[in-house]
Amino acid sequence: MEIKAMRGFSDILPPATSRWRVLEERAREVLEGFGFSEIRVPILEQAELFSRSIGEETDIVEKEMYTFEDRSGDCVTMRPEATASMVRAYIEHRLYAADPMLKLYSIGPMFRHERPQKGRHRQFHQINVEVFGVSQPVIDAEVMAILMHYLSLVGATGCRLQLNSLGCPTCRLDYKEVLRAFLKNHLPGLCEDCRRRMERNPLRAFDCKVPGCQEIMSKAPLISDYLCHLCAEHFAAVRSFLEILEIAYEVNPRMVRGLDYYTRTTFEVVAGGLGAQNAVAAGGRYDQLVAALGGPDIAGIGFAIGMERLLLITPDELLPSGPSLFIAALGEGPQREAFGLSYKLNRAGVRTLIDYEGRSLKAQMRRADKLGARYVLIVGEDEQRRGQAILRDMEEKKQEEIPLAALFEEIVRRVKERSP
Ligand code: HAM
Repeated sequence: MEIKAMRGFSDILPPATSRWRVLEERAREVLEGFGFSEIRVPILEQAELFSRSIGEETDIVEKEMYTFEDRSGDCVTMRPEATASMVRAYIEHRLYAADPMLKLYSIGPMFRHERPQKGRHRQFHQINVEVFGVSQPVIDAEVMAILMHYLSLVGATGCRLQLNSLGCPTCRLDYKEVLRAFLKNHLPGLCEDCRRRMERNPLRAFDCKVPGCQEIMSKAPLISDYLCHLCAEHFAAVRSFLEILEIAYEVNPRMVRGLDYYTRTTFEVVAGGLGAQNAVAAGGRYDQLVAALGGPDIAGIGFAIGMERLLLITPDELLPSGPSLFIAALGEGPQREAFGLSYKLNRAGVRTLIDYEGRSLKAQMRRADKLGARYVLIVGEDEQRRGQAILRDMEEKKQEEIPLAALFEEIVRRVKERSP
């Protein structure tokens, strides 16, 4: 019987793989330009890393993690996100020793057992960006500006930056008290989850999808009214730095994020074209996380972009064009010539394809057209005898004869001339 991929796990097929690569390469260029270095962390970690950092009473930890006992009896988890692993690596390798300030990025798959739908998968991919060791609000603005710059560079459409502050443990404690009291007053209307989490994690109710809870939460007190003096100051500074960089944003005081490690600044980029799962990227500050995982008292801030969602809102033009050259060869002699020439051209950086099956000229031309080849080189036995080949410019629909002896240099020259 045929075996299929599991629900929520997708193959990424060509030509889509080219679009993935373009998005990844642009991310690397942008991030390295802003001083980030790549880190690669394992996909499997001790389960405790995620429960301690993301929070026991979050949907991710309660319902979505791929956690199992491995063959040695250790409780392990396929990473649902990368921040916790990056923080662990930062602490484990004492990456703060010389200078706590460190800018890291990582690209790769994450795993969450969610109900699959448009823009929601069980294996999905993130571009993850983290800055350690800067507690000043200027970095919050810079990180968001880099994100917005990248999104516009790759042509992402309809993106809006939403911003909030979740305060620090001190002011959040007061706010949680107020929110808990509010929830207690509305207890009969709350769902099971919200009631259960109310004591330890009342903020989660803002993320609840149950209509009754949403209705109640639309009237709930907001964290913005309870920020302490220092957190309010930090938030105002972040906003003023965003204004210097001319980054448009909206304050969304109901945005609480689904992970518990955040402090102060949190943000999401939502895009209209995404439907229900509308966040293409999200992140925030986590000033206590390094210490909570056993490291020194070092601040952190970062974000992750969801690649599958980004692909839904970026144009198809990101697909690299077809081959530069298709060689249509007719007859055994020309086919041998084409075989050698295409290998040489590909080595010289000219993307060249040939026909392997000895098809008719018409069929080969059709194929070249379908592939979107920029040029077609036509070599038949007749042309070969005359020491000529026909080079057809598929875009300008013009053709000319070129001496076989000068073919290689001539094609390399033309293709290089055309490429930007
Ligand atoms: P998150 O909001 O859980 O944050 O995920 C970030 C992004 O990953 C989302 O905005 C979305 O684009 C994408 N994403 C999440 N779940 C799925 C899914 N099931 N299918 C497809 N895409 C998904 C984090 O993961 C934090 N670690 C971000 C961060 C980095 N905060 C600080 N640094």
